[in-house]
Amino acid sequence: MKVGVPTEIKTDEYRVALTPSGVRELVEHGHEVVVQAGAGEGSAIEDDAYVAQGATILPDADAVFGAADMIVKVKEPQPAEVGRLEARHTLFTYLHLAPDAELTQGLIDSGATCVAYETVEDSRGRLPLLAPMSEVAGKIATQAGAFMLEKPLGGRGILLGGVPGVAAGKVMVIGGGVVGMNAAFIAVGMEAEVYVYDRNIDRLRELDLYFAGRASTCYASTLEIEQRLPEMDLVIGAVLVHGAKAPYVIRRDQLGLMKKNAVLVDVSIDQGGCFETSRPTTHSDPTFEVDGITHYCVANMPGAVPVTSTYALTNATLPYVLHVADAGVEQAARENPGLARGVNVVGGKVTYAPVADATGMEYTELFEALAS
Ligand SMILES: NC(=O)c1ccc[n+]([C@@H]2O[C@H](COP(=O)([O-])OP(=O)(O)OC[C@H]3O[C@@H](n4cnc5c(N)ncnc54)[C@H](O)[C@@H]3O)[C@@H](O)[C@H]2O)c1
Repeated sequence: MKVGVPTEIKTDEYRVALTPSGVRELVEHGHEVVVQAGAGEGSAIEDDAYVAQGATILPDADAVFGAADMIVKVKEPQPAEVGRLEARHTLFTYLHLAPDAELTQGLIDSGATCVAYETVEDSRGRLPLLAPMSEVAGKIATQAGAFMLEKPLGGRGILLGGVPGVAAGKVMVIGGGVVGMNAAFIAVGMEAEVYVYDRNIDRLRELDLYFAGRASTCYASTLEIEQRLPEMDLVIGAVLVHGAKAPYVIRRDQLGLMKKNAVLVDVSIDQGGCFETSRPTTHSDPTFEVDGITHYCVANMPGAVPVTSTYALTNATLPYVLHVADAGVEQAARENPGLARGVNVVGGKVTYAPVADATGMEYTELFEALAS
């Protein structure tokens, strides 16, 4: 198969979908790899490093899409990239289609086979291709939140860890999955007072053991959240219902309960956001204010630390990229049911039920769509 790696074009996105190690493995499996000139630059990978492992460098995105059968990317395709997709292409990238009916329609119209990193599952129903970026985003969430609490940035003027004689700041993390655990881990490390909320009791048990008293675990009922909200300096939203649009865990009328210039960080913004007042922002302009509360809603948080994120992401994606390149999507999906869960759109049909539900599109069973 010919595997193509275009340069990411989403605003402030510096990751790349394949490293020279990935090129080496694909080439050793008998595949050809084409990389857009400069695609690795943001992650400190020179074109020559790809060439040394057997890749061919092509001058622009048109050439990469034109030459390749499988396009491997990081972020969801931007309009210009959707325009380059054809029915013969397999696209493997983050898609986050549930909150984005327009992109879903674009992929349907392209006829391409589109596999979403974020809905691929492992044998225990976890999300192995979302997890590494959730680890990064969780850690950034607390760093960014702590920074935004500084007075010159519009924050309350609170140091999360406090100092001897002055109490620590308070952090609420809603959603105790991979993002939430990593966010809480950094907040604990900063010596803040930390509360982690989830609706999954087994997950709360795991977190309780993990934090061993250094963070409190709480059931995420609306009332529980509402009662503790007035004390909080920083609230991090990290909920996920697999593949679906994020549920709202804080509504606009609840902002009035919070301290003036407290900070909300909505990591779930890529699934539509879990605070009613959230809207996507970029690293260049990461925050906005609603009712006196700072909102940080960057949809590609790991893009800010590309040298870490590119390697973390590609370590996880490479085995799946190899499997799809070796076997093709249909055979790979039959051999790995978790990979089959990643296939969201095939030949103009939506094959992942939560996306069909969220966008109001018709759902077609995957192997039926692949057969037609
Ligand atoms: N903005 C970014 O750059 C970025 C980067 C990585 C991940 N994310 C997003 O972060 C979100 C979380 O990802 P994750 O990997 O931690 O997911 P995860 O599945 O590991 O964890 C989600 C947690 O949310 C909990 N949950 C679901 N509904 C809830 C509710 N109503 N109240 C409280 N808890 C609830 C689940 O029980 C689960 O423990 C996802 O939307 C993911 O796409 C964003």
